[in-house]
Amino acid sequence: MTTGTFRSVDFKNGRVILLDQARLPREEVYLELSTWQEVAQAIVEMRVRGAPAIGLAAAFGVVLAAGVPSDPRAEVGRALEGLSRTRPTAVNLFRALSRMESAARSAEDADLYPVLLREAWTMVQEQAEADRRMGELGAELLSPGVRVLTHCNAGGLATYTLGTALGVIKTAHRQGKKVFVWVDETRPLLQGARLTAWELQKEGVPHRVICDDMAGYLMARGEVDAVLVGADRVAANGDTANKIGTYSLAVLARWHGIPFYVAAPLSTLDPGTSSGDRIPIEERDPSEVLSFMGLETAPPGSPAFNPAFDVTPAGLITALITEAGVVRQPLEVGIRELIGMTGV
Ligand code: MRU
Repeated sequence: MTTGTFRSVDFKNGRVILLDQARLPREEVYLELSTWQEVAQAIVEMRVRGAPAIGLAAAFGVVLAAGVPSDPRAEVGRALEGLSRTRPTAVNLFRALSRMESAARSAEDADLYPVLLREAWTMVQEQAEADRRMGELGAELLSPGVRVLTHCNAGGLATYTLGTALGVIKTAHRQGKKVFVWVDETRPLLQGARLTAWELQKEGVPHRVICDDMAGYLMARGEVDAVLVGADRVAANGDTANKIGTYSLAVLARWHGIPFYVAAPLSTLDPGTSSGDRIPIEERDPSEVLSFMGLETAPPGSPAFNPAFDVTPAGLITALITEAGVVRQPLEVGIRELIGMTGV
């Protein structure tokens, strides 16, 4: 089986098609959405999630707005605004919306829909190509027999095809490197256990799911050779926001002398944000912490705190894998060079 067996985001017959990630791995159900408001709702409910996939879904959401019969340009404006208020941390969402806004501005009224549709598909193609390049470049960092620990889901579900961190793992696996993956379950919403394990199974990559709090034990036993994660936003100085729990892994990895890699496309870089303390961190409903798969786990009335992301300081990151090259320390300098080179 290959990653070709699913598409996180698609657009067919004037509808946005999303593989409903909230229902995986139990059911493989595709949602067919015909309004931008439905797309916004799906992003909030994390039926589509992962930084690049959120951006692509939002872009197609704007296309739906351009398809309304009455005053589509005004509807596009409302969609850009409404979609921007869905999830605050992943910068890909804002970059995608800003590209759609520029495309809309440049289009004649009669061409609004095809111009926006073309721009959304261009972003999809760029993401697919970025995944492929990150996979190739990142796989060079993994030695045969490597045991990698990953967190959350940075696979094709979170992008379009291969994934970022999982794209690197899948590429190394396809090259015959005999990669083994420790999959952090990733509380509270279990993106690791539900989604990463599902993708690795499809790809035939050997793996074992662990609870998040088992990582330190495994590292201390010498059973982890590298940590490899994705990102939701990389600030200009290299500080990186990713799924809550990533920072703890980076600290553990440093203590144990294990390399800590981040794979992220250029669309996840945010040169406009100087450092990690300026990245907005989404806080989600406490009920996600107080329950497990819909079952209450804390006594009624106990409050909870539910930040969805944390920030790993640049100094803890061994290398940043992008489609334009692998950036090593000092990340700030490498990122500046990359931006100069690619104009992102
Ligand atoms: O809350 P989520 O599931 O959208 O968070 C996703 C992550 O943190 C991923 O690691 C990140 O988006 C990288 S995906 C290629």
